[in-house]
Amino acid sequence: MTYDLAIIGGGPAGYTAAESAGKNGIRTILFEKNNLGGVCLNEGCIPTKTLLYSAKVYHSAKESVKYGISCENITYDLSKIIARKNKVVRKLVAGIRAKMAEAGVEVVTGTAIIQAQGEAEKAKGEFSIECNGQIYAARKLVLCTGSETIIPPIPGLKETDFWTSREALDSKEIPESLLIIGGGVIGIEFASFFNTLGSKVIVVEMLNEILPGMDQSLSGFLRNELSKKGIEFHTGAKVVSVNNRQVEIEKNGEIQRIEASKILLSVGRKPVLSGFGLENLALETRKTGLKVNEYMQTSQPNAYACGDITGFSLLAHTAVREAEVAVAHLSGKNEKMSYKAIPGVVYTNPEIAGVGQTEETLQAENIPYIVKQLPMAYSGRFVAENEQGNGICKILEGTDGSILGVHILGNPASELIVIAGIAMERGMKAEELKTMIFPHPTVGEIIKETL
Ligand code: NAI
Repeated sequence: MTYDLAIIGGGPAGYTAAESAGKNGIRTILFEKNNLGGVCLNEGCIPTKTLLYSAKVYHSAKESVKYGISCENITYDLSKIIARKNKVVRKLVAGIRAKMAEAGVEVVTGTAIIQAQGEAEKAKGEFSIECNGQIYAARKLVLCTGSETIIPPIPGLKETDFWTSREALDSKEIPESLLIIGGGVIGIEFASFFNTLGSKVIVVEMLNEILPGMDQSLSGFLRNELSKKGIEFHTGAKVVSVNNRQVEIEKNGEIQRIEASKILLSVGRKPVLSGFGLENLALETRKTGLKVNEYMQTSQPNAYACGDITGFSLLAHTAVREAEVAVAHLSGKNEKMSYKAIPGVVYTNPEIAGVGQTEETLQAENIPYIVKQLPMAYSGRFVAENEQGNGICKILEGTDGSILGVHILGNPASELIVIAGIAMERGMKAEELKTMIFPHPTVGEIIKETL
């Protein structure tokens, strides 16, 4: 039997493509070698957010006196925090499985390997995929194999028992001290978690500021907030060697040695391009991943690629939209992928979020802009709920009144950024967004105030 569509990889891109295709009556088969949900659900977005929420509750309990409430003997039990995280993941994985069944998608657990297209398959315009010793044929293919942790060739690292985000998520104890190599999204979220639960956290970041890609003035603001909580930052510093618990860092040509009881490596992720027969398709690649067009088609029009495999955005929400676009296109609708307004969020406490251009990207492209910014304390609701809380809302406006970028530091930035993203995607001018009615009192009013 020939399927209309075969999908390799059951993460956010794969399961979204499968659900949407299945619901549209497309005969779909989905291959996943591990659990449905991919890295995002099993060892990324969801587990980290669950852990961070436990840390936030613990922190809130400790800070409760600021709100006129006294809590005594506040402690935590790491094994229960991890058990809750596992429960949340199991529940959501089961939810995805149920969605697949509802949409009539056939799910196969195993490693799918794309076979070389013989003359017969070429003539029929079919792909042939082997999984668990069985051959499956499909007319169209969506590749969603995701990404994996980059392990850089730092001398001594291989011989060291270090953590990546995967091991950190299942830690049995809170290390006395934790040295994090890489001050990107993963590094800073884990820094926030382990610092809250009592580790002495040291972050070493090669660039001059943490969180590259976010507006750097807000990254600096967050770094200051986290420094106040006791996190030690070494920016503009590169890890040059690791010797078990000792890390050598180089800053301005000088070598410094730092001891830590544990090392967490988070220097980026790269697309998974091997182990599933990709070479048999001979697809075009670009520097970071598989080359795709605006409909998510690879250089073979019947093979689509969505999510981290394209190496473009490495975000679950981008992957979801890419999958929707791919399925729309293979169903005959011509929706195009837009990368204009993809929000980026770092779920520290406080959260930081941004969408669109940053001051750095605008300057690099020589685009004129004006900066409008306000402290979060201009929002009554923020003041009510964040005793002594700091934060900032920064809007970058074009000379024609267009909204070029919005950046927020302060809770709940992850939710507020959607307002800005929708306005930007729809091409709303600052003036138009300002005429919208925001419920009062909400933290989101800060956007209207800042405009
Ligand atoms: P990243 O690319 O965000 O950050 C890696 C950092 O490591 C960079 O700042 C880089 O300058 C630094 N670095 C590289 N080599 C170094 C060295 N030898 N010494 C010191 N610093 C060094 O990568 P990260 O944090 O591993 O995250 C991977 C991907 O996962 C990201 O693309 C991110 O989008 C995604 N992700 C997204 C989350 C979210 O949306 N909240 C959460 C977690 C991950």
